[in-house]
Amino acid sequence: MKVTVFGTGYVGLVTGVCLAETGHQVLCVDIDEAKIARLKKGEVPIYEPGLENLLKHNVSAGRISFTTSAKEGVAFGLIQMIAVGTPPDEDGSADLQYVMNVAADIAGSMQTYRYIVNKSTVPVGTAEKVRKTVESVLEKRGVNPGFEVISNPEFLKEGAAITDFMRPDRIIVGVEAGKDAAVMRELYAPFNRNRDRLMVMDIRSAELTKYAANAMLATKISFMNELARIAERVGADIEAVRHGIGSDSRIGYHFIYPGCGYGGSCFPKDVRALAKTAESSGYAPQLLHAVEQVNLNQKAHLFRLLCSHFGGKEALSGKTFAVWGLAFKPETDDMRDAPSRTVLELLWQAGARVQAYDPVAMNEAKRIYGNRPDFILTGDKESALDNAEALLIFTEWRNFRIPDFETLKRLNNPLVFDGRNLYDPDLMEKNGVTYYAVGRGRTH
Ligand code: UGA
Repeated sequence: MKVTVFGTGYVGLVTGVCLAETGHQVLCVDIDEAKIARLKKGEVPIYEPGLENLLKHNVSAGRISFTTSAKEGVAFGLIQMIAVGTPPDEDGSADLQYVMNVAADIAGSMQTYRYIVNKSTVPVGTAEKVRKTVESVLEKRGVNPGFEVISNPEFLKEGAAITDFMRPDRIIVGVEAGKDAAVMRELYAPFNRNRDRLMVMDIRSAELTKYAANAMLATKISFMNELARIAERVGADIEAVRHGIGSDSRIGYHFIYPGCGYGGSCFPKDVRALAKTAESSGYAPQLLHAVEQVNLNQKAHLFRLLCSHFGGKEALSGKTFAVWGLAFKPETDDMRDAPSRTVLELLWQAGARVQAYDPVAMNEAKRIYGNRPDFILTGDKESALDNAEALLIFTEWRNFRIPDFETLKRLNNPLVFDGRNLYDPDLMEKNGVTYYAVGRGRTH
């Protein structure tokens, strides 16, 4: 099938490449000329395991190509996918201007029937807005080639995006009243072979499913983080509690890891946007606000532990702290809403210096914070520790997972604040390391 994908961010690019890999013909459209020029050469502008290889392979096989011309894109695919960004507005609701611009572009030059498929995360009711925009542009042009709007939200995780796309848990397809999903069944047939994972529903339910999934996952994390804070106070170990409750198959072990809060481009934005949608429909969502509040609070937790250890914020001034992990999670260089950023900024406000290391997010950190005298990026995890008062860990990268006591000796003090509960507190104690983790009773 011929598919046009508008937007070459995480979702658009992964979608385009994976569709091409199974034999579809894909044309990706983006307004960013520099990005399109790089993609044509097979260069991926983001860090995502496996993506560059797959892109190069499909570019040279001639199954995927790139353009900045919307007109060319509209002429190409029977299926027109919208995968552009929906950044939060000032008030937290999703900004739909990019989605609507693409809808207007499609309507502006389409000559024959088109399926307009929305992959971006968009609030309930967006498909209807897309329909209205397309209708009004077609009316102005005085043509009626026919079209339908389909909602097909994406559920990929950064760092595991290719596998998630290739082996989806579910393929959600929302269709307009009276329409069927035949075209989407054909498109997704290569990803839907073992058992039928394609679920057809009405458009509004499909749009809400995306937010419901992310809000549910964010709720699990905030719940565990709240419980961790209770565990600290009552002298319990949240890791034991996690094992205990996860064994109940109704609860399960996934997504119940306490830590320094959730980050990334999805959970924070989507929880807020869903709350906004609820409010504008006349419902005051209490749980969603609480999920967000608990998370904001949790992101500053390591800083609070640090202050109480050193006897107040003032005591941090002039001191150097080592940081391992800047990305919001492993296997990505994405630092959007990362918990590390909350603490870095609090440390700088307190007059402290930071020496940081991340296996892939160093360039991203430089791009965000530029050159500043109180922020040193080190070439390896070991040198981040030199002359530092303590080590703070924000991302559970694999090469941080074993406590290397020789390396920790490079710190001024054997002192570790672990936002991901990587180490065994007893082992740390035996080796003379003062160890603060999240929700592990003995640290309080
Ligand atoms: C998330 C969802 O998991 C995807 O299903 C969804 O498609 C995507 O958002 C999206 O809407 O596009 P992602 O943001 O890539 O994916 O990252 P996750 O792996 O979900 O992690 C989010 C955050 O939660 C990270 O900061 C992670 O450290 C944190 N987390 C995760 C925890 O603190 N504890 C856990 O048990 C799990």
